Amino acid sequence: MAPSSFVVVANRLPVDEVAPGSWRRSPGGLVTALHPVLVAQAGTWVGWTGSATDPDQEPIQPFELEGMRLRPVALSGDEVERYYEGFSNSSLWPLYHDAIETPIYKRSWWESYRRVNERFARAAADEAAPGATVWVQDYQLQLVPAMLRELRPDLRIGFFLHIPFPPVELFMQLPRRAEILRGLLGADLVGFQRPLAAQNFLRLTRHLLGLRPRGAGVEQDGRTVYAAAFPISIDVPEIEALASSPIIRARAEQIRKELGDPKTVILGVDRLDYTKGIEQRFKAYRELLSENRLSVPETVMVQVATPSRERVEHYQALRVKVEREVGRINGDHGRVGVPAVHYLHQSYSRSELVALYCAADVMMVTPLRDGMNLVAKEYVAARVDLGGALVLSEFAGAAGELRQAYLCNPHDLQSLKDALTRAVHADQTEASRRMRAMRRHLRTHDVRHWASSFLSALGVPSAALPASED
Ligand code: ADP
Ligand code: F6P
Repeated sequence: MAPSSFVVVANRLPVDEVAPGSWRRSPGGLVTALHPVLVAQAGTWVGWTGSATDPDQEPIQPFELEGMRLRPVALSGDEVERYYEGFSNSSLWPLYHDAIETPIYKRSWWESYRRVNERFARAAADEAAPGATVWVQDYQLQLVPAMLRELRPDLRIGFFLHIPFPPVELFMQLPRRAEILRGLLGADLVGFQRPLAAQNFLRLTRHLLGLRPRGAGVEQDGRTVYAAAFPISIDVPEIEALASSPIIRARAEQIRKELGDPKTVILGVDRLDYTKGIEQRFKAYRELLSENRLSVPETVMVQVATPSRERVEHYQALRVKVEREVGRINGDHGRVGVPAVHYLHQSYSRSELVALYCAADVMMVTPLRDGMNLVAKEYVAARVDLGGALVLSEFAGAAGELRQAYLCNPHDLQSLKDALTRAVHADQTEASRRMRAMRRHLRTHDVRHWASSFLSALGVPSAALPASED
């Protein structure tokens, strides 16, 4: 197989195994945006399949799917535990999200993280043609840029962090902090969701390594590494098409009927993650019910909580707390056949999610900290009817763009309750005005715009970029 002039390196491959050996492209903005670029440039995606490989199992060979070459990276059960569940999701994830949960550090996790990053870097070096562009994604692979540069100094290397980048004082807690920072500095361009994150990164290069950042760049080993914000987005036309389809409109109406035709449907859709502020949201709802400022059955809440990282301790503890709170609200405020909260610990198809968005009068997106939050953007894109109201945490990256949402501070229960009350009682004209303004922004800032902005800043010629609407 000829090497590729464009390589994406991400923890996960953009595919799901539907039957043994049979793969389907997974839904999601990242693959939607990059698929045309990969097809046009005979590109390769390097990533993990999502399950552990047995030592006696044949590793899965690279394969083609819908014009993309996919190069699987195998992880043993031990590596899944140490690299993925351990260093990535029990050390880095909590630390980068303001240490909402206490990060856990184990030396054996670091060793596995380093080894797995090296495996990804070797696979990418193997796939890349001379002078190719390689785009590395996210916190699981922060050592890859420098490892790859060492192996292949001819490459143009970009890195994008999908989650927040913490302030200097927090980052300094991280064992092996200098190695992580040097890993990132192997890239030519390091992209973040928000300008503040890029500033944190540049400041850190001075504080930790004594470098001298100037403007958006910092010189390192005779090269300039640039850092800037590129807020990620969603496939707006896909969501709009689904939301406009008569089948989905009918499904949305049916959902409302199934919920007992309430006056107000409040919706939450999140991975079951402690960063998402699900407990705080429930608490605000419960207090408003207790104070008779909201009542059942006029109001009903639906919380979709997608199963996630279920073997990680922090996540197991969260599930117990969230489910206890659901029981408490339903116990205090539900009636026979009329729960106050419908709690769904399940995955859904894109169509069912969009139908839920269309059925919801109020969408609650209340993370304590979130790199972006695509659910907020999906809700706005789905409201082609200009209906609905979005309650949005100031601590979601999306709040930097969706300024017309009902913004709140989820650390302050009163602020959450106020925002929810305002959204529930919003005047229709006012709510539509807000929705129209947010939709206008999204239409010119969809995921193709994100990918082309990043790749053109990295030096990829415009002919090879995904077409965006602006
Ligand atoms: P994160 O990346 O932390 O999970 P985001 O809100 O940025 O959070 O992205 C979540 C993505 O997962 C969205 O595209 C959303 O539609 C999708 N999603 C969330 N919950 C479900 C679910 N229960 N079933 C299917 N997709 C889901
Ligand atoms: O937002 C960060 C992220 O790692 C995404 O890239 C991913 O889709 C999501 O969280 C779910 O994480 P995981 O791959 O650990 O299931």
